[in-house]
Amino acid sequence: MRILCTGGAGYVGSACLRWLLAHGHEAFAFDNLSEGNRAAVPDYAQRLIVGELIDTDLVIDTLRTRSIDAVMHFAALASVPDSISDPSNYYRVNVLGTYSLLEAMRAAGVKKLVFSSTAATYGFHGPEAMPLQETAAKNPETPYGTTKRAGEWMIADYARAYGWGYAIFRYFNAAGADPDGNHGEHRRHESHLIPLTLAVAVGKRPALKIFGDDYPTRDGTCVRDYVHTSDLAQAHQRAVERLEPGYGEAFNLGSGEGATVKEVHAACERAVGRSIPVEYAPRRPGDPAVLVADPAKAIRELGWTPCFSDIATIVRTAWQWHSRHPDGYPD
Ligand code: UFG
Repeated sequence: MRILCTGGAGYVGSACLRWLLAHGHEAFAFDNLSEGNRAAVPDYAQRLIVGELIDTDLVIDTLRTRSIDAVMHFAALASVPDSISDPSNYYRVNVLGTYSLLEAMRAAGVKKLVFSSTAATYGFHGPEAMPLQETAAKNPETPYGTTKRAGEWMIADYARAYGWGYAIFRYFNAAGADPDGNHGEHRRHESHLIPLTLAVAVGKRPALKIFGDDYPTRDGTCVRDYVHTSDLAQAHQRAVERLEPGYGEAFNLGSGEGATVKEVHAACERAVGRSIPVEYAPRRPGDPAVLVADPAKAIRELGWTPCFSDIATIVRTAWQWHSRHPDGYPD
């Protein structure tokens, strides 16, 4: 298939794009490079379209001239804390950007869509509700979550009315790097646990700040479900290959296992082979205590077989990337 990846120069989008190229598909990236990197896209001179998603005409032109069969929509702002301090940006990029893309797909007659959503659409559930199934109540507590939930609604409505096929993936904590060590996480503004921990290990930051050690969890720090980008990519491939008009499902993508912040920090120390300094800080707004996926639906219905999402593999691959590329991608 010929697939357009919005946000295809970003962390998860580019991992999926590279995976698609390695698995018999043709793929293009549409990215404004606000967080993405050219060098994350193989053959970027041919494969990367730099533009704003809100520019509907440019998206229509891209879909038509590249004869696109399906879209994977990764482009979004994705930091919980930033979304709380600047919701305006999140509504513009995540909601209006998605609306513009859907309009462009409608104009160009593209009817297959895989959408990157998030565990943040579920909001806060107690530890007794874990692991979360797709049917769990969705009460997003942050603008990141509300804007992604809005995208899910738009897509379901468009698909119903215009005869599209779609899959919505609710990622838990996307993590890790390509197993070859050549591609990984590099944002202009980083807020995620593993890259910040490894930034301390390469001497770019003085210490990891642990946000809150008084949560009702086994060691007082938040529990998250980390899922490797190569496993996310495999799920995207399996979904896009089965999309038909009238098919529309949402899936959790997670390992089904939770790790605490302290456990992730310890796994990073093991991978790096030395201690990584920490300091303790107050809780971060918008953080649920525990968030763990039940991934059974994706395994059952898509034949998804995650292979890289144990925490040791995630941290080992992330460390290969960060240690070899302490400054990330070239500018
Ligand atoms: N954390 C720290 N110190 C840091 C960074 C993070 O202690 O410097 C903690 C956070 O407080 C949290 C855990 O590490 O408890 C994971 O934080 P991340 O920022 O790495 O990831 P989030 O859990 O905030 O974000 C993820 C996904 C989102 C999803 C969200 C739901 O990236 O897509 O979970 O809460 F929406």
